[in-house]
Amino acid sequence: DKAPVLTIDGPSGAGKGTLSQLMASRLGWHFLDSGALYRLAALSALSHGIDLDRAEDVALVAAHLDIHFDPDSGQVLLEGDDVTRVLRTEETGGAASRVAAHTEVRQALLERQRAFRVAPGLVADGRDMGTVVFPDAELKIFLTASAEERARRRVAQLRESGGEADFEAVLADVQARDERDRNRKDSPLIPATDAITVDSTHLNVEAVLEAIMEQARARG
Ligand code: C5P
Repeated sequence: DKAPVLTIDGPSGAGKGTLSQLMASRLGWHFLDSGALYRLAALSALSHGIDLDRAEDVALVAAHLDIHFDPDSGQVLLEGDDVTRVLRTEETGGAASRVAAHTEVRQALLERQRAFRVAPGLVADGRDMGTVVFPDAELKIFLTASAEERARRRVAQLRESGGEADFEAVLADVQARDERDRNRKDSPLIPATDAITVDSTHLNVEAVLEAIMEQARARG
């Protein structure tokens, strides 16, 4: 029998990362950051000089990603190179969103994502976890927040890590990425029909958890 899965989908900056890591640690379940796989595929393509618009070529690197992750330090190695920092930049997120638009790339990463489903269970974070990758998930959450709030959070995060950030530029970035994720033909960002939707614009992570439990209880 398959291990249980809890999916958390939504746009970037809605708080999925924080929520899914918290839920995974409280449940003692595994955690899949599917966005990181798309980011790693983009970085790998770039390091091999591959044009991100060449779907077949990017898919080939995506199918053969050589990744090492150290759960204690959080360090990520791609083909032996430390990509821990570059993995999280705005530029890498934008590149990931470009390669994620290719059906060939999504196919190349599908089985790799499903392989994370092992006992005692999995919390999966992404855009299409509940719709495409794990359509039979036990519980599906769709987490949203206004674009302005998500841009504010991103700016705060960038400044905290010592970087500079211009709100208008970050907001434009957030909106462009949303647009691309929502309008692509393959696996667009939409809530699964059986998902619990929570708007985190005015909620911290504990309040989000509370709202999820309330809706889950109401469903019976
Ligand atoms: O979540 P994160 O910002 O790391 O994702 C980077 C990009 O990867 C997203 O903007 C999206 O285009 C893509 N992605 C996706 N499907 C997923 C996870 C991420 O298309 N399940």
